[in-house]
Amino acid sequence: MSQDLWTAVDDYIEELLVAPDAALDAAREASAAAGLPEIAVTPSQGKLLYLLARMVRARRILEIGTLGGYSTIWLGRALPPRGRLVTLEADAKHFDVARENIARAGLSKRVDQRLGLALETLPLVAAEGAGPFDFVFIDADKESSVEYFEWALRLSRPGAAIVVDNVIRDGEVADPETEDERVQGIRRLNEALARESRVSATTIQTVGSKGYDGFTLILVGA
Ligand code: SAH
Ligand code: DHB
Ligand code: MG
Repeated sequence: MSQDLWTAVDDYIEELLVAPDAALDAAREASAAAGLPEIAVTPSQGKLLYLLARMVRARRILEIGTLGGYSTIWLGRALPPRGRLVTLEADAKHFDVARENIARAGLSKRVDQRLGLALETLPLVAAEGAGPFDFVFIDADKESSVEYFEWALRLSRPGAAIVVDNVIRDGEVADPETEDERVQGIRRLNEALARESRVSATTIQTVGSKGYDGFTLILVGA
């Protein structure tokens, strides 16, 4: 079992099941050309986010961690005509690259980008009454995962879905002695989820072109 095989299978799945989309392809290319880290969700993961958002009939979506807007475009595509997506990003360069990518996808009117540390912009989003959200994608600094989850829960309606990316990290999440602060952040999230009676959650390990990782899926309302 190897990375080459996982990548070949992702290529096979994407060829058949993920329709080409010029704006999504352009977003990946422009993000790479601008020197952004190549850590966006894969095409098949992007389509999973799109399908999950459609399954909960999301009209309001919150994303924490925009990067170049690749996952933003997938989620924006899941919205009905009057739907809205708020996406939070701390890095001004990422924010600017995402703005171009989102515009090219024709989503500028539906997507509300906020520049700043998410723990500073989330209170503003809450104060404006931008929620309640039907779907939240948490994909920023993993150290703050518990805080992001708590905000997501506070800003979500019953029946909302919350997805957290990068929760396995090559299996390191199961190591109680881990010194990686990002993994420690995910372990604190898991402990919070275990205690939280207002949600029901599970975590799925994944392999693919981005290696061995996984995501947590949380349903708001036990
Ligand atoms: N969701 C994107 C990938 C996000 S990568 C996709 O799949 O296409 C993580 C992003 O979170 C990076 O752009 C990083 O700059 C941003 N980030 C890191 N710390 C942050 C913080 N405290 N607040 C907001 N954004 C943050
Ligand atoms: C990293 C961040 C991500 O959101 C991701 O999907 C993969 C890697 C990282 O910071 O290494
Ligand atoms: Mg991620």
